[in-house]
Amino acid sequence: MDKERILVIDDDLNTLKMVESFLSLKKYQVATCLTFRDAMKEFGQGGFDAAVIDYFMPNTTGLEMMKALHEQEPDMPVIVLTASRDIKIAVNMIRQGAFNYLVKPVDPDELYINLDKAFERSRLVKENRELKLDLKDRYKLTHIVGGSGRMKDVFELTGRAAKVRSNVLIIGETGAGKELIARAIHYNSDRAAGSFIGVNCSALAESLLEAELFGIEKNVATGVDARMGKFEAAAGGSIFLDEIGDMSPSIQAKVLRVIQEREVERVGSHTPRKVDIRIIAATNRNLELAVEQEKFRKDLYYRLNVLVIPLPPLRERKQDIPSLCDHFLAYFCKQNNMERKRIHPDVLKLLIAHDWPGNVRELENTIERAVVMCDTEMVTMTHLPPNLEEASAAAPSLSPDQPDGGLDAKVAAFEKGLIVAALEQHGWRQNKAAAALGVSERSMWYKIKKLGIHIEKA
Ligand SMILES: Nc1ncnc2c1ncn2[C@@H]1O[C@H](COP(=O)(O)OP(=O)(O)OP(=O)(O)O)[C@@H](O)[C@H]1O
Ligand SMILES: [Mg+2]
Repeated sequence: MDKERILVIDDDLNTLKMVESFLSLKKYQVATCLTFRDAMKEFGQGGFDAAVIDYFMPNTTGLEMMKALHEQEPDMPVIVLTASRDIKIAVNMIRQGAFNYLVKPVDPDELYINLDKAFERSRLVKENRELKLDLKDRYKLTHIVGGSGRMKDVFELTGRAAKVRSNVLIIGETGAGKELIARAIHYNSDRAAGSFIGVNCSALAESLLEAELFGIEKNVATGVDARMGKFEAAAGGSIFLDEIGDMSPSIQAKVLRVIQEREVERVGSHTPRKVDIRIIAATNRNLELAVEQEKFRKDLYYRLNVLVIPLPPLRERKQDIPSLCDHFLAYFCKQNNMERKRIHPDVLKLLIAHDWPGNVRELENTIERAVVMCDTEMVTMTHLPPNLEEASAAAPSLSPDQPDGGLDAKVAAFEKGLIVAALEQHGWRQNKAAAALGVSERSMWYKIKKLGIHIEKA
């Protein structure tokens, strides 16, 4: 690999020659310029990895030159040379984005060390950017499975949320995919280059959560170091407040303040700090009820309630089960370096009939287990957890609008699962599905009506 290319600007020919010889010794590629004009011409050719520039120049300063360079290459490290030992100039340059400063006469070792560090930083910046692009790719909406009408609504809202800065509230049962949607919003928004920081509000005791969210000032208790909170860490990006329904009233009040004022106060401090953040909250509770019961602040609820994304439980979008199975099967086979497996149709029927109280996560775990347990190309009943079969037939429905109605309801749920599976397998063509199940088209049509099966357009 070629060594890095460095632009050197100084109106003093001696310094210029000296720096050039130091750099050439280390096999760097060097372009030297006596004037800023020449330098800009040279720089326009592109391909520079760093610049070493003099501060005092006729008609210009190091600061102006650095700004011009950074306008075109914002991440390029700039090292400033200064003849005076004027620390103020140096500090200001660093504040304005210089990598470091060197006092003339230039010490070669110091120059080498600074360049090494600068290139290391560039490498990290680049790596970081690539990782973020990777993440952005991973959370593209097209990578989230869901062909059902219910999920199309979710995607529509997610896309809308990504375009704006409003607070978002995602409501859904455990394992339904709330975090996945939250990440998709962030990585598809114009804040994607910033951080996505998640905080589980139910996992920590109140005082710990407070310090976690808002940060803490030095010596609040003996020996405590100052620490930045998650709100500050998410500046420029998005913060994901998971299980927000479990927050204590005093923390709710503080979060409300962050939303209203866009500033945080660390625990033990009274100096507010501005934070530029986007808030995405999630809950598996009925917040409206919590507001009625005065467990959740009404004003905070209204602030969060701007853009609501209701994420339906998996049992209400069983049409997504076959494609989710496919997705997880491909993923876990690849992860375990296995040939791509298939799912036996009977297994798929069972998976569709199951009620999935743990939603997509439960399905994901079931498929992972099946992949690990299965030595052949075909996943069969024996690879499912032993309880799944009985559970599917007997599981009481968890949906509030479908109370467990005893044998009839269970039979109906099972029947519905079988029919949806058959329809799914035959591209939602009722005649084909009826033939596969060995019933007449007419009785198929009747059952679809009676069981309230929503027909997907193929
Ligand atoms: N539509 C989907 N497509 C692909 N994978 C999904 C989908 N929905 C959920 N998953 C996967 O299912 C798992 C659970 O999703 P996630 O963690 O987002 O759920 P959650 O609602 O945040 O759960 P909890 O309430 O328990 O925190 C994750 O591994 C996620 O990647
Ligand atoms: Mg979650």
